[in-house]
Amino acid sequence: MASITVRNLDPATKEALRRRAAQNGRSMEEEVRHLLGALESSETVNIDGSARSTAAPVVSGSLAGRHILLIIGGGIAAYKGLDLIRRLRERGAAVRVVLTSAGSQFITPLSVGALTADRVFTDLFDREDEHDVGHIRLSREADLIVVAPATADLMAKMAAGLGNDLASTVLLATDKTVLIAPAMNPKMWDHPATRRNRRILEKDNILFIGPNAGEMAESGEAGAGRMAEPLEIVARVEEFLDQSPKPLAGNKIVMTSGPTHEPIDPVRYIANRSSGRQGHAIAAALARLGAKVQLVSGPVNIPDPQGVQTVHVETAEEMRDAVEQMLPADAAVMVAAVADWRTKSESGEKIKKKAGKGPPSLKLTENPDILAGLGHHKLRPRVVIGFAAETNDLEKNAKGKLQRKGADLIVANDVSPETGIMGGLKNRVRLVTRTGVEDWPEMSKDEVARRLADRIALMLEEAEA
Ligand SMILES: Cc1cc2nc3c(=O)[nH]c(=O)nc-3n(C[C@H](O)[C@H](O)[C@H](O)COP(=O)(O)O)c2cc1C
Repeated sequence: MASITVRNLDPATKEALRRRAAQNGRSMEEEVRHLLGALESSETVNIDGSARSTAAPVVSGSLAGRHILLIIGGGIAAYKGLDLIRRLRERGAAVRVVLTSAGSQFITPLSVGALTADRVFTDLFDREDEHDVGHIRLSREADLIVVAPATADLMAKMAAGLGNDLASTVLLATDKTVLIAPAMNPKMWDHPATRRNRRILEKDNILFIGPNAGEMAESGEAGAGRMAEPLEIVARVEEFLDQSPKPLAGNKIVMTSGPTHEPIDPVRYIANRSSGRQGHAIAAALARLGAKVQLVSGPVNIPDPQGVQTVHVETAEEMRDAVEQMLPADAAVMVAAVADWRTKSESGEKIKKKAGKGPPSLKLTENPDILAGLGHHKLRPRVVIGFAAETNDLEKNAKGKLQRKGADLIVANDVSPETGIMGGLKNRVRLVTRTGVEDWPEMSKDEVARRLADRIALMLEEAEA
C-alpha cells in the first residue's frame, strides 16, 4: 500500500473513525492502516472502537514495538534499502520511509510502500502528509533514524544544516539518534569535502556504520565506499536499541569455535564437520548479555558473531596459542572441535601419487588439549566449560572429561550422523557437572546459546560469591 487518503466516507463512519483514532492517539489515516493490518492478522475489529483479537499480534522479535524512520538517499545502494526494510520488519520493527527525490530514481515508492505496509514520505510540501503527520512528527516519532544509503550529498546537507527537502528537514528537526550508512564511489568518500563532513557529523554525534571496502556496483572501481550490508545495519540497530539486562557486564570470556584444519601437505588437511554455528551463537549470546567476548575461530563459512572480537586460526596449536594470549579471563567456553591429532611432519610439497607404490602412510601425533590446559592453568578462569561431541557413551565420556580436564561444566552432544547435529541448525545437549546431569530437549542452536549464556552468568555470579 503506497498511500491511504481518507476521503468520501459517510459522516457516521467518519465520526466513528475519528473517535477511534482519538482514543488510540493515532491520526485517522494511521487508524485505517491499523485496522487494515489487524484484518490481515485476523483481529476482529469493529469501527465503533471495540477490537477482539482472534490471533496473537506479532510481538516477538528483537525489535518488536520499535519504530525506525529509514531515509533512503539517491545512490545505487538504494536497492539494499528494500532488503533492510524487510530485515527490520522481520524482527518486529515498524518502519517508516522517507525516500528522497534522487532515491526514487533508483527504487519506487510503490515497492517501498509494499514492504513497509505504510505510506512512503517523499515531499516536504505534500499537503496531505503535512496535515496528517508532518515533518516534525516524522522526525520525533521514531526510536532511531537510519539513513541508508547516505549519499555524499545527504551527508553534506546534514553537515551544513540544510533543510531544503523532506529528508534534510527531518534530519534537522529530529531529537533522536541518527545512524548513517554511507555509500558512494571511493573517490567521493575520500574527497576532502566528504572527509570534512564526516568529521563534522561525528562531532554532532551522528553514528556511522561502514562504508565497507570492496567492488563498487556501478563503476567497476574498488575501495572504501560500499554500503554496509542490511544485516550489519540491523545488528547495529538491535545493539543500539537493546535495553535488556547485562548480567555479564565487566566479564571477559574467552571462547573457541569451529573445527581445526591440520595440514598434511600444502593442499590437503585433516578436518571435521564442525560448522562453528553453535560456538558462534554462544559467543553472540554472551556478548548480548554484556560480556567482553574474545573468540578464536577455526576455519568456518559463517560470519563473525556480532559484538565479538574474533581471531581466525587454522590449527589446534594456533588455537591454543591464541587462547593463551587472551588470558586472564573470567570464563572460558571451549566449543571448537579441535582435532585430537595432527600429522607428525607436514610435507612441504604436495605428496605425489606414485604408480605401484600404494598410498602413503600418515604418521600422527597428539595435539595440545586446550580445554585441559585451561582447566589446570595457573591463570585458570573462574568458570571453565567444554563441549564433548560423542557418538557413544555420551554421559560416561562427558563425566570422565569433566574430571580429567578440570572443567566446571561439560556440554555433551550426540553427534552420531543420524542426529544431524554436526553442521546442522539444531542441537540436543546434556549438561554434565560435578553434581549431576541435566537433559535439555532438542532446540535451535541459537536457543541453546541463549540458555547457556544465562547459565554462565549464573555460574560466574556463584563463583564470585
Ligand atoms: C547512476 C547514479 C548513481 C549514483 N550513486 C551514488 C552513490 O552511490 N552515492 C552518492 O553519494 N551519490 C550517488 N549519485 C549521485 C546522487 O544521486 C546525487 O548526488 C543526488 O543529488 C543525491 O541525492 P540525495 O541527497 O537525495 O541522496 C549517483 C548518481 C547517479 C546518476
